Amino acid sequence: GAAELGPYRHYMQKEIFEQPRVIGDTLEGVTGIMPELFGDNAYKVFKQIDRVLILACGTSYYAGLTAKYWIESIAKVPVSVEIASEYRYRDSVPNPNTLVVTITQSGETADTLAALKHARSLGMEHTLTICNVSTSAMVRECALSYITRAGVEVGVASTKAFTTQLAALFLLTLTLAQVNGRLSDDEEAAYLKQMRHLPVAIAAVLALEPQIIAWAEEFARKENALFLGRGLHYPIALEGALKLKEISYIHAEAYPAGELKHGPLALVTDEMPVVTIAPNDALLEKLKSNMQEVRARGGQLYVFADVDSRINSGDGVHVIRLPEHYGQLSPILHVAALQLLAYHTALARGTDVDKPRNLAKSVTVE
Ligand code: G6P
Repeated sequence: GAAELGPYRHYMQKEIFEQPRVIGDTLEGVTGIMPELFGDNAYKVFKQIDRVLILACGTSYYAGLTAKYWIESIAKVPVSVEIASEYRYRDSVPNPNTLVVTITQSGETADTLAALKHARSLGMEHTLTICNVSTSAMVRECALSYITRAGVEVGVASTKAFTTQLAALFLLTLTLAQVNGRLSDDEEAAYLKQMRHLPVAIAAVLALEPQIIAWAEEFARKENALFLGRGLHYPIALEGALKLKEISYIHAEAYPAGELKHGPLALVTDEMPVVTIAPNDALLEKLKSNMQEVRARGGQLYVFADVDSRINSGDGVHVIRLPEHYGQLSPILHVAALQLLAYHTALARGTDVDKPRNLAKSVTVE
C-alpha cells in the first residue's frame, strides 16, 4: 500500500533507489573470492568446466549478455548466452563440460525452467542459478546457486533485480578467474574494493535524477528512440531501450554503435533522440565518431558520459556526466541512469508505471 512507498510515487522508483542497499546486501559477507559462495561442491564443478552457457529471458537475458563480456575478458572462459525460449526448441551441440547458468529474478519463468531441463536432458549436469527467490523451483532444480538479495520486486519493469544479478555475475566472473589461475591477489583485492564501493557509486548516479527529469520531459513527446552502446555497454543499451518501451510505450531500439551505418542511420532525423552510453573506456574514440554520424544527419544526441570523457554539450548534443568512470563495473552505474530516464518519461506520459499494459511480472506459462 501507499505507506510502504514512503516518499516515492511508484514501486519502480522506490526499487531504483533501493539499489545501493540491495547491491550491498547481495555482496554482504563477501570478504574474499571463494567458490563455496556458490555451493559446497562449486570448486570441483568450476575446475571441471571449460565453457559457460547462460539461459534467461527478458532483463535477466541482458544480465547474461553483460556477463559474457566479463567472463571472457577476465576469466578467459568461452560463454554463450541464449534466450531460453529459443534454446529449448532448437537443435544445439551439447558439451558435458559446460557450466549451465540460469539467471532469473523469480525462479519460476516457465521457459527458463524448461531450457534448464532441456540442457540437462542433453547431458549437461553442471547447473548454477543466479536467482532472487531462494524457495523457487529454479533453486531446487539447480545444483549450485547464488541468491541475490534484491528483496521483493513489485514493479513489472525489473530494476534492482537486474543490478543485483550483475553484482552476482561479477562475483562469478572473479571466482571462475581465480579457479583458472587468472586472478592475482592484487587484482582480487582491487576488484573487491570496487565492489564494496558500488553502493556509494550508484547513489551518486541516482543523485542525477533532476537532470534526467529534464531530459524525460523532452522524451515524453517522442514516439521513437535509439540507444547506442559499445562493448560491455551494448547490453546496457538493450536494457535501457527495453525499460523505455515497457513502461512509456515509446518505440525504442538498441544498437551496438558500430552497426549504425548498417541500417539504423536511415531512421535518424531531427525527431530522433539517440541515447548514447559513453563511458570513458577504450572504445570512447570509436564511439565519438559514431556520434558524429548521428549529428551529421540531424539526430539529437543524449549522452551519458563519464566525468572525464571530454564530450561537451553543444548544438544537438546534450550531456549528463556520471561522477566517475567505474571500469568493468561501469554497466551497473550506467543502467541506473537509464532506469531513471525510462521511469520519468513514463511518468510524464501518465502511463501505469508499475503495471504496464499486457505485461506480467512473472511469466509462468509458455
Ligand atoms: C517478465 C518480467 C521481466 C523479467 C522476465 C524474466 O517478462 O516482466 O521483468 O525480466 O519476465 O523474469 P525472471 O523472473 O526469469 O527474471
